[in-house]
Amino acid sequence: MTKATDGTAGDGTAADGAAAPGGPAGGGPLVELADVSKYYGNIRALEGVSLQVHAGEITCVLGDNGAGKSTLIKIISGLHQHDSGGFRIEGRDSRLGNPREALDRGIATVYQDLAVVPLMPVWRNFFLGSEPTVGRGPLRRLDVPKMRATTRTELLRMGIDLRDVDQPIGTLSGGERQSVAIARAIYFGAKVLVLDEPTAALGVKQSGVVLKYVAAARDHGLGVVLITHNPHHAYLVGDRFILLKRGIMAGSHARAEITLDELTRQMAGGSELEQLSHELQRAKS
Ligand SMILES: Nc1ncnc2c1ncn2[C@@H]1O[C@H](COP(=O)(O)OP(=O)(O)OP(=O)(O)O)[C@@H](O)[C@H]1O
Ligand SMILES: [Mg+2]
Repeated sequence: MTKATDGTAGDGTAADGAAAPGGPAGGGPLVELADVSKYYGNIRALEGVSLQVHAGEITCVLGDNGAGKSTLIKIISGLHQHDSGGFRIEGRDSRLGNPREALDRGIATVYQDLAVVPLMPVWRNFFLGSEPTVGRGPLRRLDVPKMRATTRTELLRMGIDLRDVDQPIGTLSGGERQSVAIARAIYFGAKVLVLDEPTAALGVKQSGVVLKYVAAARDHGLGVVLITHNPHHAYLVGDRFILLKRGIMAGSHARAEITLDELTRQMAGGSELEQLSHELQRAKS
């Protein structure tokens, strides 16, 4: 029932241009990086990184601290620009000037420290920056009943059953807040959903909840980029795994090509971990 445009009150927000359902023309990747490099001064943050994001798939980006994960998604979400290589959105060479441009192209990013106003109700945060209005001129005002009702139905559609959409969003758990952000991106017509370590600060149960909604976004046909340290979380939902090490691609595997054990081993840096285990044993005796 919900097209993105019915939430935007025709005010030209991101959803208008971004809501074409049914995936990209021709079934090519929604987003593609080819041999991308990025330097901060002379610090190499990324070099020769390639990845594809397809509709209805989850691409996981794994790597240790400083591997370049956040840099990678900042390029996709328009915060930073790449120095060399190709960046294509739905087949078109692109260079995004800012996050608003990314949103206009259907790329929504959920950051770990979500930009929410903790004391405002859930429905207010759901529509933050894209509030529908009623009336004209001096009589123009926020359409509060519509925002309340839409928030409730959209969250329910995702299987999120909040006690009360009037409660301040700050009273929700971290997992619930992430879930609301995912539902919001879907409602406003995102084609690509980028999540930077959505489970990093969460316990096992809450992580499971968030991963469920990440999978729901995929089932809605979005192309999802999931950044994580955790190979177990990645393997639960991922279709494709990109491993980064100090800015370089250390692996790129389709799900069928790799087991969880192998992914964990590569992520932990196999031999480095064995070395560490030896050192720790020696230190104990
Ligand atoms: N704005 C910046 N200026 C200079 N160097 C930066 C900047 N942002 C990141 N870097 C450097 O680039 C490299 C990659 O950083 P990035 O934040 O992308 O890593 P990450 O994989 O997201 O790490 P983490 O898991 O800790 O979040 C690091 O060496 C980092 O110090
Ligand atoms: Mg990071």
